[in-house]
Amino acid sequence: MTENVAIRRLWPRPDADPLDDAALVELYPRAAEPWLRMNFVASIDGAVELDGHSAGLSGGPDGPDKRVFGLLRMLCDALVVGAGTLRDEGYRALRLDERRRAWRRERGLPEYPRLVVVSRSLNLDPGSVVFADAPVRPVVLTHAQATPPPGLTAVADLLRCGTDRVDLAAGLAALRDRGHTQLLCEGGPHLFGSLTAAGLVDELCLTVAPLLTGAGAGRITAGPTTRPRAMRLRHVLVAGDTLLLRYTRA
Ligand SMILES: NC(=O)c1ccc[n+]([C@@H]2O[C@H](COP(=O)([O-])OP(=O)(O)OC[C@H]3O[C@@H](n4cnc5c(N)ncnc54)[C@H](OP(=O)(O)O)[C@@H]3O)[C@@H](O)[C@H]2O)c1
Repeated sequence: MTENVAIRRLWPRPDADPLDDAALVELYPRAAEPWLRMNFVASIDGAVELDGHSAGLSGGPDGPDKRVFGLLRMLCDALVVGAGTLRDEGYRALRLDERRRAWRRERGLPEYPRLVVVSRSLNLDPGSVVFADAPVRPVVLTHAQATPPPGLTAVADLLRCGTDRVDLAAGLAALRDRGHTQLLCEGGPHLFGSLTAAGLVDELCLTVAPLLTGAGAGRITAGPTTRPRAMRLRHVLVAGDTLLLRYTRA
């Protein structure tokens, strides 16, 4: 997999020079309106995971996918993630390095984005580092009837939207009311499927990893089928054999 490989723009205007972080930030702007950006990596044959994790697809901490992944975190107000992804990927606390915190401070943003975990069951471990080590109290988006495990309300704010299932539209509106207008969602597939079904997705950033993984893994989306929605291609970046695509709603 590609490590430390320069990222270049292929489309709409091919660039000879590699993109530095400032140029990349311009290619993934914060929107002027409330916005939900999804970020995924998939193999060229469509797999969402390799051996149960996305790490095998994204190609290591210095690869192009992780570089953009980190920049997108820097750019958001809140990072939304499904509880399944949190558990499967062993999420750590949402921290940014000093350079990225300084970038946020200079623009009047809080030093850290807020982590928002979506869970129907509240099968969450309050002792896990993602809560215990969080620089900002995470939010858990759930519904009115969910019963939290002991200790969860000591480490996270519960946001209850919906009576017996999570009302995602109401949840995202409540986050926006708290000033979190730029939302980044790192999945997973069931959460993406629900957000698509509810018509809430504004953008998809997709890394296409140069791997044929074969059959077995699911896609980046799961759950009930929905009507197809047209999306508009905003750019194609290339880094070695990896493509970084950005689509927004048409
Ligand atoms: N390639 C990538 O970029 C990428 C990104 C993310 C994940 N993944 C992979 O995807 C796999 C996990 O897939 P997944 O579909 O299980 O992930 P997921 O959508 O994060 O997890 C599903 C769980 O999240 C909660 N959830 C999701 N949608 C919800 C909704 N509409 N309302 C209430 N709760 C909701 C529920 O948690 P509760 O059970 O707590 O109720 C549900 O059981 C892992 O293998 C992971 O590595 C890959």
